[in-house]
Amino acid sequence: MPARIIALCNQKGGIGKTTTTFHLARAAVLHGRRVLVVDNDPQGNLTAVAAADELAEDQAGLADVLSAQAPETMRDVIVPGVWPGLDVVPTSGVTLGYVRDELVVAGAGRESRLRGALSEVAGEYDLILIDCAPSLDQLTINGLTAAGAVVVVTHSKLFSANGLAQLLDTIDSVRQHYNPALSVAGVIVNQHEDKTVSGRTWHDELHAAADSRGLRFLSPPIPKRVVISDALEAAKGLDEWGSAEATALGAIYADHLTAIEGVQS
Ligand SMILES: Nc1ncnc2c1ncn2[C@@H]1O[C@H](COP(=O)(O)OP(=O)(O)OP(=O)(O)O)[C@@H](O)[C@H]1O
Ligand SMILES: [Mg+2]
Repeated sequence: MPARIIALCNQKGGIGKTTTTFHLARAAVLHGRRVLVVDNDPQGNLTAVAAADELAEDQAGLADVLSAQAPETMRDVIVPGVWPGLDVVPTSGVTLGYVRDELVVAGAGRESRLRGALSEVAGEYDLILIDCAPSLDQLTINGLTAAGAVVVVTHSKLFSANGLAQLLDTIDSVRQHYNPALSVAGVIVNQHEDKTVSGRTWHDELHAAADSRGLRFLSPPIPKRVVISDALEAAKGLDEWGSAEATALGAIYADHLTAIEGVQS
């Protein structure tokens, strides 16, 4: 069976898409899944932590696969990840930004380049996670067109303040034009401040807004904890960290993974 393909999106920056992709990938590897993560962001943040070896600036990556100017296929650019069972479609250097510009002026079929490229390798994985950039540009459209489901990562702040309505409009538009099977697997609230009144208030408002749109709100939210970013920066799974707090946080990602995977079967 080809892999489930999940895109993690929010056009707002710094909300936790990359962190969530990384820790969900770890949860999936621990479940024995063969996992591929796709760094669909010119910043290359996911590559920096998920690839086993440091990449040369000019090493081939996602940009070469998506560009009409380069010969590489998906298989050519995949590199090993930091854990057995994890592979990475890397992004380094500046070229993915150039490819985004190329896609803007490209003709028919430009939305489906990532989808086509992933179909070459999808049979070799159980789960493919696409870490999207903080924008609703052609790269993100490619991510949404390639995915079976999207996970919306957000802060526990007001729905409108997060631009979620705009993101949902984009998802609808992709569904209508390019990918009718696209579903929303759920909304993950990240960096939740459970000890503040405002954190709890926003959380409840967001929950209600998600419910009113028929979106699944994944509970519990992921709290704001230093160990989550420390583990990411050290390229370690929370289960590898060695503290009870980290292990408990890792279990939240495992629960969310189960919920997300249950969406498409
Ligand atoms: N739950 C959390 N608790 C504490 N720190 C977190 C948490 N989630 C993310 N962070 C930190 O917040 C910062 C932004 O996270 P991340 O890079 O994952 O966001 P992003 O949405 O991928 O950003 P961008 O839009 O730039 O790609 C990072 O330094 C990360 O370590
Ligand atoms: Mg990111």
